Amino acid sequence: MSTEPQKPVRRITVPQIAARKGGEPIVSLTSYHAHTAAIVDRYADFILVGDSLGMVMHGMETTIGVPLDLMIMHGRAVVRGTKRALVVVDMPFGTYEESPQVAFRNAAQIMKETQCGAVKLEGGARMAETIRFLTERGIPVMAHIGLTPQSSHTMGGFKTQGREEDSWPAHEADAKAVAEAGAFALVLEGMVEPLAAKITKQVAIPTIGIGASAECDGQILVLEDMLGLNPKPPKFVKVYGRLGEEIENAVRGYAEDVRARSFPTDDQTYR
Ligand code: KIV
Repeated sequence: MSTEPQKPVRRITVPQIAARKGGEPIVSLTSYHAHTAAIVDRYADFILVGDSLGMVMHGMETTIGVPLDLMIMHGRAVVRGTKRALVVVDMPFGTYEESPQVAFRNAAQIMKETQCGAVKLEGGARMAETIRFLTERGIPVMAHIGLTPQSSHTMGGFKTQGREEDSWPAHEADAKAVAEAGAFALVLEGMVEPLAAKITKQVAIPTIGIGASAECDGQILVLEDMLGLNPKPPKFVKVYGRLGEEIENAVRGYAEDVRARSFPTDDQTYR
């Protein structure tokens, strides 16, 4: 057995993610709870505690109703469960749009109470001033443009962006504005491939795609979608596991055992 002291694991930092522009693809998944985060931590460069937790964990219709304290609670769990990946926590709707000052107050609360490494917020050029305000005050920001679920009401639903080429300049301007304002990475969600490829070439920060093609500098998926827990995952999602079926089989087996008073062990030791 080696007597060498184990090196402490160091978390991946914001500058390390930013430096991956054009390099080895960045691996990322969402996670909302400690046990799954501990598994994801072994493979992902960053873990997003996304506000999609409102839909995935709490059965909400959209992300709009997600409160700040819920993000903080799940953010804490993910930070506790991990030691290697950078943890990024989403700022929920209504906690950053009003002014840079309000955004700072809420982002600082997220960072203090979860000990995460960065926050993410949705919006392009309109959020540039806020992104600059936060980054100049020590809060690393990941930006998010294209299909932005918190604006689904104004966008008229969850629609792929950039289908019409005349809409591209606005998306390109959004990407440039958030990069110039100091965002360290940029999520491109629900965007046609040629536009995602164009933006990826235009900005100096890594782009992280979700339904935006392999042309981005990295990829993110909602963990439950790729694990087969969502009965209706978005079309672009490759499903890597069948956890829905596994859970169903396990629960059915358990229910059968309980009803048959058939437990596999007589051992009454608790642990
Ligand atoms: O909340 C979330 O899960 C996200 C990803 C879709 C990027 O923002």
